Amino acid sequence: MPGQRGDGNRFASVHPDNGPAGRRGHPPSDYDARVVTVVAHPLAEHLLTQLRDRDTPPPVFRTLAKRLALAITFEAIRDLPTEEVKIETPLEPTTGRVLAETLVAVPILRAGLGMLEAVTELFPEVAVGYIGLERDEASLLPQSYYRKLPEVAGRHVLVLDPMLATGGSGAAACAAVKQGGPSSVRFVCVVSAPEGIDKMQAEHPDVPIFTAAVDRQLNDRGYILPGLGDFGDRLFGTE
Ligand code: PRP
Ligand code: URA
Repeated sequence: MPGQRGDGNRFASVHPDNGPAGRRGHPPSDYDARVVTVVAHPLAEHLLTQLRDRDTPPPVFRTLAKRLALAITFEAIRDLPTEEVKIETPLEPTTGRVLAETLVAVPILRAGLGMLEAVTELFPEVAVGYIGLERDEASLLPQSYYRKLPEVAGRHVLVLDPMLATGGSGAAACAAVKQGGPSSVRFVCVVSAPEGIDKMQAEHPDVPIFTAAVDRQLNDRGYILPGLGDFGDRLFGTE
């Protein structure tokens, strides 16, 4: 089956047999592989399992989050345009390829900050914008409290938020970014829920989602199951 591990495809499919965190009971054809990419690298799985572990303390959680964000970002930028440049090695002239355009990274505060350093280390020239959103605990709707975006027109934007739960925050952030007329928007997260993916697909079918896992469902408080708890609290030690 395309997308299954072991067939040479680098992505796991969203498949009932994906393991304890897999999306049980839903066929892999639920999601178009062009829209949802589940990064199934063994290192990503290893890091995610440690992140999920309730006994992982904030300092370790931060390190793991950054490493996993690196792995997911690699996939998210796989199709970015490059251009040829002439360079000289110590031995002779040659040509190589470099990224054609400057990237923009937009972490959703707070938890998205746990992914930002991975992107700024990969791309020191990246322009960074911030969107502050906090879910209302009762309605689960995102409340906006901050927004500062750089010029995004004609640029490729990575929206960073580790948790795609109801999808309210991700959809709101993508809508805000799109107002600036970017070339593309990609949503980079760590754990996603089917509910959040459905909302993103409904509101932003042009925004591909890159995630380390698609989990089973949300609980009645909007937390992802099995998930990893409250990412922001675990990242910043505010539990
Ligand atoms: C978390 C998470 C997402 C949002 C996901 O943020 O970082 O932004 O919830 O939920 P949704 O898909 O249902 O909108 P939270 O509101 O807890 O704020 P924080 O990052 O400051 O902890
Ligand atoms: N936000 C989190 O941090 N975790 C969840 O499971 C859902 C939303």
